[in-house]
Amino acid sequence: MPPVRREDALFSWFERINGPVWGDVLDAGTGAHSLGWVGSLPARSVTAVTVEAWRMAGLAEVAPEARVVLGEWTDPTLLHGESFDQVLVDYVIGAIDGHAPFFQYGFLERLRPHVRGRVYLVGLEPQPRDGGVLDEVCRVRDACILLAGHRCYREYPRTLVAEWLERTGYRVIDTKDFPNRVGPRFVNGQLDVAMRKVPLFRDPALRVAMENTIADVRARALDLGEVTWGADYVIAADVG
Ligand SMILES: C[S@@+](CC[C@H](N)C(=O)[O-])C[C@H]1O[C@@H](n2cnc3c(N)ncnc32)[C@H](O)[C@@H]1O
Repeated sequence: MPPVRREDALFSWFERINGPVWGDVLDAGTGAHSLGWVGSLPARSVTAVTVEAWRMAGLAEVAPEARVVLGEWTDPTLLHGESFDQVLVDYVIGAIDGHAPFFQYGFLERLRPHVRGRVYLVGLEPQPRDGGVLDEVCRVRDACILLAGHRCYREYPRTLVAEWLERTGYRVIDTKDFPNRVGPRFVNGQLDVAMRKVPLFRDPALRVAMENTIADVRARALDLGEVTWGADYVIAADVG
């Protein structure tokens, strides 16, 4: 689950590497943030994909000129025969497990025929398993997601994703870590997700106990204030 991020440091890094010519751009896992950026580029065309119908109305407002496609990357007909100069993969790898379990391992290969030029990938390093209170926040969130019968995000390290890219016919040209500053917005965001899952637990006693646990971990995590914890990363990779 991505942290609230510095407004444009990651996208600015892509803009510096890319230069002014964007051509046809695909946002392969879109949201208001990535489409807001892609829609602001001097691109010839913008296409964006999501598998979540609830996003569609908001996305049409964010970038009215963009073609937003509701589709599932496991469907072989999705964007069949189409290719793009630049393809943004923004927090998609970690999200796939929630929609198409295990497909993250085939996703970069699935995308490959649609890339004429370059992939710009944003990922979140798996949370540090340091036993600290922020680690606890994320573990409580994931426990609640699982107890509600839903699937968690599953993040992958930069080194592993770079290796997947190389193995599937891309050439990594540059990559960088961006340590995350996290504070109350992050803590409240993750624990609000947890709270929304609690009513779905089967056991009423566990619901009460979990609400108390969430309140306790929230108070301790908010006491930390803002700290550097975890990291986002970016990878730029060309085809061929
Ligand atoms: C975490 S969101 C990405 C956030 C977005 N880039 C933003 O603005 O911050 C993940 C996106 O990938 C899409 N996605 C995940 N798995 C998918 C799949 N198997 N097929 C198609 N889209 C998928 C989701 O529907 C969502 O649009």
